Amino acid sequence: MSSIAITVDYSAIRRNVEALCEQAAGAAVMAVVKADAYGHGLVEAGAAARAGGATWLGVAQPREALALRTAGDTGRILTWLYGPEVHAGLLIAHDIDLSVNSRAVLEAVVAGAEDRLATARVHLCIDTGLGREGVTVAEFPALLDQAIEAQRAGHITIVGIWSHLAWADNPGHPTIDAQAAVFRQALWQAQERGVEVEVRHLANSAATLTRRDLHFDLVRPGIAVYGLPPVPDPQGHRFGLTPAMSVTSHVALVKEVGAGQGVSYGHEYVTPYSTTLALVPAGYADGVFRAAGGVAEVAINGRRYRIAGRVCMDQFVVDLGLSSEVSEGDVVTLIGPGGPTAADWARAVGTIDYEIVCHFGQSRHQVGA
Ligand SMILES: Cc1ncc(COP(=O)(O)O)c(C=O)c1O
Repeated sequence: MSSIAITVDYSAIRRNVEALCEQAAGAAVMAVVKADAYGHGLVEAGAAARAGGATWLGVAQPREALALRTAGDTGRILTWLYGPEVHAGLLIAHDIDLSVNSRAVLEAVVAGAEDRLATARVHLCIDTGLGREGVTVAEFPALLDQAIEAQRAGHITIVGIWSHLAWADNPGHPTIDAQAAVFRQALWQAQERGVEVEVRHLANSAATLTRRDLHFDLVRPGIAVYGLPPVPDPQGHRFGLTPAMSVTSHVALVKEVGAGQGVSYGHEYVTPYSTTLALVPAGYADGVFRAAGGVAEVAINGRRYRIAGRVCMDQFVVDLGLSSEVSEGDVVTLIGPGGPTAADWARAVGTIDYEIVCHFGQSRHQVGA
């Protein structure tokens, strides 16, 4: 029996996407399922997102797009993270939409299309200020001209123009409007040249939830699909989103100890009084962050307990206190209903909830949950 169980509620993903479609208010929804759907399982999460109304799926890596096709997904899929080495012909043959980050990538896409005697669907990516993917504002007109030429030759159709925000999770940050203005300028440059795209897209989860004016034709939520709001809901309802991932273990041993007992390696926790300790057989080899020792909490039978002392490779301890009614075999909720959230763990170990779910998602494969 595994010492840790990472379970994903795919019906929660479906309902989250339904809620996001409502928020999108007319714009189409691309569920971002990169990085194994943020640890939730690429194929299963993709199917759940489709069932919730996502007409698009978005992935960084071309191999993820191909994996979705292999699993039978027939809807629109966009992939965006590669250089000129991309096997564009293979992706075109699988009817996958391709982002173009540079003139060299456009050349590779055109070569792939020629090779397959096909027309590639292309989304031009402009760096409006994130300083990451996309051509610079200065390079955009030249990319646009090159793309128009390739479109005239029948190698590509320019179906999208897109960009990505740097500070969307900080509503009101001045870069959001500044990036939007640069994006609108790029759209205008395309329009001026007679390019009519199918989808203009800029908004991630945070912008989907807070900036209706930036939805354009398509929104690209990721973290919200998995039920983790990137910004607080002013109404206090988590925007109607439900976390999809749960992480649980069980109590392997309950024992009484006296006051002054050092707990776990290095005795960083010392019992202040006679108490009861519970041993949980999950450690950093199972994905439980070592940094969680002494700071993160778990829930047992509806009560929260802080991890006492260091997390070891395959186990950790909690101090149940005096009045505990915990028995061996009881479920220990690290993340999930009635217990801490991924955001709680993120605060405890000094990261963001994105990393928490991606991290536990890797253990999901090891335990086959
Ligand atoms: C290009 C792109 N679009 C959309 C997203 C989704 O972002 P979020 O998970 O913040 O909604 C990501 C994820 O980082 C991304 O890289």
